[in-house]
This record gives sequence, structure tokens and C-alpha cells, in this order.
Amino acid sequence: MKICIVGTGTNSEKLFYTLEKKAYGEVVMSDPREELPMADYYISGVTNFKYRKETYELIKDLDLISYVYDSAFVCDSASVGDGTVVCSNAIVDFRATIGKSCWIGPGSIVTHNCVIEDNVFLAPGSTICGSTKIGCNSYIGANALVYDGMTLPKGTVVHGGQVYR
Ligand SMILES: CC(C)(COP(=O)(O)OP(=O)(O)OC[C@H]1O[C@@H](n2cnc3c(N)ncnc32)[C@H](O)[C@@H]1OP(=O)(O)O)[C@@H](O)C(=O)NCCC(=O)NCCS
Repeated sequence: MKICIVGTGTNSEKLFYTLEKKAYGEVVMSDPREELPMADYYISGVTNFKYRKETYELIKDLDLISYVYDSAFVCDSASVGDGTVVCSNAIVDFRATIGKSCWIGPGSIVTHNCVIEDNVFLAPGSTICGSTKIGCNSYIGANALVYDGMTLPKGTVVHGGQVYR
């Protein structure tokens, strides 16, 4: 199996070393500004606010593979879409639904019944309280807090440490 990590930054490198160590097969990294190599599966490691959306547009119709770090917890009743990365110590709780190609950052918490649409980025330590819906391409900064039951339109940016209520 050949996996192509799309992106060349630190988080792409992090994915590269992790997936290589897991010996899933051949793992390559590719710059999204260049032609992507042929691979069985693709996964985005692009976490920069400015480039996430265009990278998602580039890969969304390809075969995507998700990855959940060993120390993360994904509840049995939750679901994680193709191409999504759930980082170390993140929690995806009861009946939460995570879309395609999301990045659930280290230590972030998605609590019960949340719906996180495609290509949403959660920076480290962000907390999404119960039954919240986050529209696609949204970007939630580090340690942000989103109150229960909110609906965030697509492309919403919540800056680091902000409270969205
Ligand atoms: C969301 C974020 C990542 C966007 O990054 P960016 O495009 O480089 O944005 P900037 O830091 O240049 O900020 C953009 C605007 O938001 C404003 N802003 C940034 N943080 C803010 C905050 N906590 N509260 C209110 N406004 C804020 C900036 O003042 C700036 O306003 P301006 O355009 O009028 O000058 C960034 O604003 C942020 O929240 N960073 C926190 C750290 C983080 O989560 N990093 C993510 C990877 S771990």
C-alpha cells in the first residue's frame, strides 16, 4: 500500500514519521503545489490556516485514509471521516461525528453529539461542547472554547483562546 501525505510542513513530517513507523507500506510526502504522485491513499498534513482549504479541494475526491494517534480516544459511538487525523490525547466523545479531512489537534475535545463537517481544523486544546455543529472549512484556534449547542457557519474562524457563544 502506498500512502501520500500532502504537505511538507512540520505536521506532515510528524505524520510521515508516524505512518512509516507503523509500517503501513510505502509512505511519501508531496508538495501540494506540485503534481501529486500516484498512491493508494492520500492524507493532508497541511494545518496552516491560509492553505488548508485549497489543499482540501485538491484531494477531496481522491481515496483518503484517516489516522488516529494511539493516545487519542474515539468513542465507539462516534465516527471519523476519511482523511481525518485525530492527534495525541484528543477526545472524540459519545456520538460525535467528524467529517472528511479534519484535523483534531493534540488534546482537543469534541464532546457528545457534535457534528464537525469536512476539513475543519481544531488547534491544540480547543474544546467543542456538546451538540455543536461546525461548518466545513472552519478553523478553531488553540484553547478556544465553543459553548454547547452552537452552530458555526462554514468557514468560521475562532481565534486562539476565544470563547464562542
Ligand atoms: C486563527 C489563526 C490561526 C489565524 O492565523 P493568521 O491568519 O496568521 O491570523 P493572525 O494571527 O494574523 O490574525 C488575523 C486577525 O485576527 C486577529 N486576532 C488574532 N487573534 C485574535 C484573538 N485571540 N482575538 C481577537 N482577534 C484576534 C488579529 O488581530 C488579526 O486582525 P487584523 O487582520 O485586523 O490584523 C490565529 O488568529 C490564531 O488564533 N492563532 C492562535 C494559535 C493557533 O491556534 N495556531 C494554530 C496552529 S496550532
